[in-house]
Amino acid sequence: MEYGKFAGVKVVDNCVWLQFEKQTVNVEIITDEIIRVFVPTWMKDYKSVAIEGDVAIPVDFDVTELDGEDKKVRISTSSVSLCIGDDFDFTFLDKYGDELLSSFNGSRKLKETLSEKSMSLLAAEGHDVSDLKSKDYKVQVLFKLRDEERFYGMGDKTGFLNKRGYAYENWNSDIPQLHHENMPALYKSIPFYIGKGAGYVYGMFFDNTFHSYMDFGKESSDYFYYGADEGNLDFYFMAGEAIADIVEHYTYLTGRAPLPQLWTLGYHQCRWGYESAKDIRTVAKAMREHGIPCESVQYDIDYMEGYRVFTWDDKEYEPAGQLIKELEQDGFKAVCIIDPGVKVDKGYRVYDEGIKKDYYAHDKDGDVYVNEVWPGDAVYPDFGREDVRKWWANNHKFLTDIGMQGIWNDMNEPASFRGPLPLDVQFSVNDRLTNHAEAHNVYGHYMSMATYEGMKELTGKRPLVITRACYSGAQKYTAVWTGDNQSVWSHIQMLIPQLCNLGMSGFTIAGTDIGGFGGDSNPELLVRWIEAAAFSTFFRNHCAKGQRLQEPWQFGDKVVDIYRKYVKLHYRFLPYIYDLLFESQITGLPVMRPLVLHYEDDENTFNLNNQFLVGENMLVAPVVEQGATKRMVYLPVGTWISYWDGKRYQGNQHIIVDAPLDVLPIFIKEGSIIPMYEDVQYVGERPYDTLTLLVAGDSAWGSHYQDNGEDFAYLEGEYNLYSFTYEDGALDCDMLHEGYEKYKEIKVERL
Ligand code: GLC
Repeated sequence: MEYGKFAGVKVVDNCVWLQFEKQTVNVEIITDEIIRVFVPTWMKDYKSVAIEGDVAIPVDFDVTELDGEDKKVRISTSSVSLCIGDDFDFTFLDKYGDELLSSFNGSRKLKETLSEKSMSLLAAEGHDVSDLKSKDYKVQVLFKLRDEERFYGMGDKTGFLNKRGYAYENWNSDIPQLHHENMPALYKSIPFYIGKGAGYVYGMFFDNTFHSYMDFGKESSDYFYYGADEGNLDFYFMAGEAIADIVEHYTYLTGRAPLPQLWTLGYHQCRWGYESAKDIRTVAKAMREHGIPCESVQYDIDYMEGYRVFTWDDKEYEPAGQLIKELEQDGFKAVCIIDPGVKVDKGYRVYDEGIKKDYYAHDKDGDVYVNEVWPGDAVYPDFGREDVRKWWANNHKFLTDIGMQGIWNDMNEPASFRGPLPLDVQFSVNDRLTNHAEAHNVYGHYMSMATYEGMKELTGKRPLVITRACYSGAQKYTAVWTGDNQSVWSHIQMLIPQLCNLGMSGFTIAGTDIGGFGGDSNPELLVRWIEAAAFSTFFRNHCAKGQRLQEPWQFGDKVVDIYRKYVKLHYRFLPYIYDLLFESQITGLPVMRPLVLHYEDDENTFNLNNQFLVGENMLVAPVVEQGATKRMVYLPVGTWISYWDGKRYQGNQHIIVDAPLDVLPIFIKEGSIIPMYEDVQYVGERPYDTLTLLVAGDSAWGSHYQDNGEDFAYLEGEYNLYSFTYEDGALDCDMLHEGYEKYKEIKVERL
């Protein structure tokens, strides 16, 4: 991108227009800490999908023209400055004048192209040669790579916590093959990262939905870059004192996950391969017989009639609603999958309605675009249109009428079996007709938005929506899971950094398929997986057709016992998880956090991939290696108390703990109070009228949030907020807010 010499500056409201010889750059002051840089190479009045409404607030800022220096203009708020020179050479500085991020003044070192002969030899042996060339992107910006800088965030990308040295693409991709650590893209596009070095931190969100690229120093050790095939260069720079501030700013921009229904946080069992009502009933019954708490046995695609969305196969799954009602008696809630592809089938209501109203995407010649998904030939609703979303939302009435309580959105990258959708298929974004190239990454986002709105309207409850694909900001509508993982140890290892990075990217409600989706699980793997996932906010065992059955009882009594222990542990800590989700609405912070989020100056945490925090006060160190029965745990500063035996450890050291198959090492920070509930088989089995407080240490403090766990009454003040202090053997309770029926009993358990 060429800018040329700086030619002038104009301030209009909260915008600073910088004129260069060849380009205009608009710097918009969003808040004291957030600055948007908008280079309208494509569309001047672009409206974001991720950021809804006007987020800019009035802020005092100065614009100074600098004489005789490299930089020509300085724009400053009280928290951050941006200095800009010729050729859009820029530096962001913190309030002390220290550098946070600078542009890199040079060009990229593109890879040398291999000879045709080498390429064909590589291709002949089956190597992927698509990545062997590199090119400058139409939209591109290079940044100076500082020696010690680390990069976090980026949503569901594979690999490790620190993304430095890796390159990624934002292009929602359905990948059933093994997700390995160098994968450029998965299902979601979250072009947001947190840059962290010694004494500084900042965040960047690149708001562009076209295919984009983020290279964190893989191509060069001098620079890192962002590129996109089309669109504007449109980024939000966020300043702060700590990583947590950046998460707060990013979720201020793109939104925070609303409180879910309490039951949705419980355990779910699933398999693509429950092919009849009988299968679902058998599994539900077995869950209760084995005493493993469970909320839902989820309905994968087979419940539909020929994979037609919003239908029910009355033959295999019994008349619609019957099974759902029967299982409700035993506390099971119904959750089913809905894919976007609508079967091409004259006479099928959904297809016909969509055709009549012209709701499906068209090819470049104006014909309704057809590809193939589960039902065979299928058409794709144009979810970027409000009227289409409304129609889709209303279609859920068929499901809510038969008792469906949660919706799982899948295949919404969108997936297709007859080759990828051409980039010129016509879809809409914000009701503006455009092409698939722009709409692809927001297709799942819009679908989950429609689903959320439909379920909210139809049930009056907080919707459970789960999606596989989405874009930044979808956390406002949906929980996510990480798609088709596999039953391999590297995927237990990966779930920790993956869920931590998703959490720091706004997705506080997230999970992986426990046991692995593809491939055969085994007793040790399944046990270690339920342990590693025990604090997941989306907590589901799921696997694919044809793989070894994966319900815990398929692996013998010992597995069932350990599995039950950890599902029960999850239920015991439900109020703590729920408290963190309440807090998350205010701070954007996730439940599952990497240690670096709270101990950011401690270098032992910088790329700690095999342990995590739950909130601030619980540290979890799962065994993620086959055969291991001991593990090294890093305890950061403070005193940490083992949950299992009350043993106290001073932090700031590595310790080695025993972790036989049935032990998940958990440590509670001294001085904290963790709320716990009693055993139940499902949420709602009995009212939660007793709260137990786990008090770690002789003096401790904690808060707790309580509401009906179901609807939106909490927004009208129907909730309680408790503040607890434990001192000299006595518990003191202060009500910070009182608006809901209080617990009948509050017990103390000392640790
Ligand atoms: C996709 C989903 C998986 C689901 C299957 C069948 O592979 O990722 O979770 O079970 O489709 O619907």
